[in-house]
Amino acid sequence: MNNTLFDLFVNFRSSKIIWDSLEKKYGSDDAGKKKYVVGKWINFKMDNEKPIMSQVHNYENLVTEILGEGMKMCETLQANEHTPETDMLADHSNDDQKCKIRRLDLADKNKGFIELLRQLTVCDSVSDKEFEDRFKELASEGDDHIICVVEDNDTGKIVATGSVFIEKKFIRNCGKVGHIEDLVVDANARGKQLGKKMIEFLTKHARSIGCYKVILDCSTENKAFYEKCGFKEKEIQMVKYFP
Ligand SMILES: CC(C)(COP(=O)(O)OP(=O)(O)OC[C@H]1O[C@@H](n2cnc3c(N)ncnc32)[C@H](O)[C@@H]1OP(=O)(O)O)[C@@H](O)C(=O)NCCC(=O)NCCS
Repeated sequence: MNNTLFDLFVNFRSSKIIWDSLEKKYGSDDAGKKKYVVGKWINFKMDNEKPIMSQVHNYENLVTEILGEGMKMCETLQANEHTPETDMLADHSNDDQKCKIRRLDLADKNKGFIELLRQLTVCDSVSDKEFEDRFKELASEGDDHIICVVEDNDTGKIVATGSVFIEKKFIRNCGKVGHIEDLVVDANARGKQLGKKMIEFLTKHARSIGCYKVILDCSTENKAFYEKCGFKEKEIQMVKYFP
């Protein structure tokens, strides 16, 4: 330092002293942050009254914070695949592949998500921008509108999807109703209970949000499937398409 006043004001007489001092300050801050994030992780508890998906999400965030601090964590504790809700798809008897239900991710567009929807109904091509915009729009609704998927770990393809959104009413003490939509299982993955597990998951989510019922529309050929999922026929569906 060539400023003549430097020596007058500086407390540290050598660069080593400055370095040691900085290390002491920021080193201890670092250790404090690590204790803090580990403490949050240790105190994490699942709450039956709260929506499952957001709790799983919070858990994943805690794990990310711990890994972000450079600490190591046993793999079985890292993923949400070991919460009871997501475990339900692991290791089912007639299928070796490990599958778990998770929320739709931006990257799923390139994993055959749109192609899968085409097995359900007309779905024109969606540009990356359109996909991202709609994804963000839906994500802003949080637990009130979730799209879930199952990814085949071997092929990296999305093999099942389904969604539920929450309708808020004034009737029934300002009650809420869950609407299940857009359920489809890839033709090669059908008959392995994936559809049923997806319905159970979406139903459980609606219930955890506080819905008093969950409803859906279906074709007559799928009636038996939904009955196996615990649904029953009620009244009829009406529609008016806009030209
Ligand atoms: C309907 C669909 C989602 C079912 O998915 P899936 O993974 O093959 O169904 P699951 O293996 O979970 O079936 C669960 C049970 O329902 C039965 N089931 C499935 N589809 C059925 C049908 N169409 N009719 C009668 N029973 C059916 C299964 O045999 C199974 O019975 P089990 O538990 O006694 O063994 C799937 O066939 C599909 O994606 N179809 C095309 C898209 C579609 O129609 N979506 C529904 C929109 S409303």
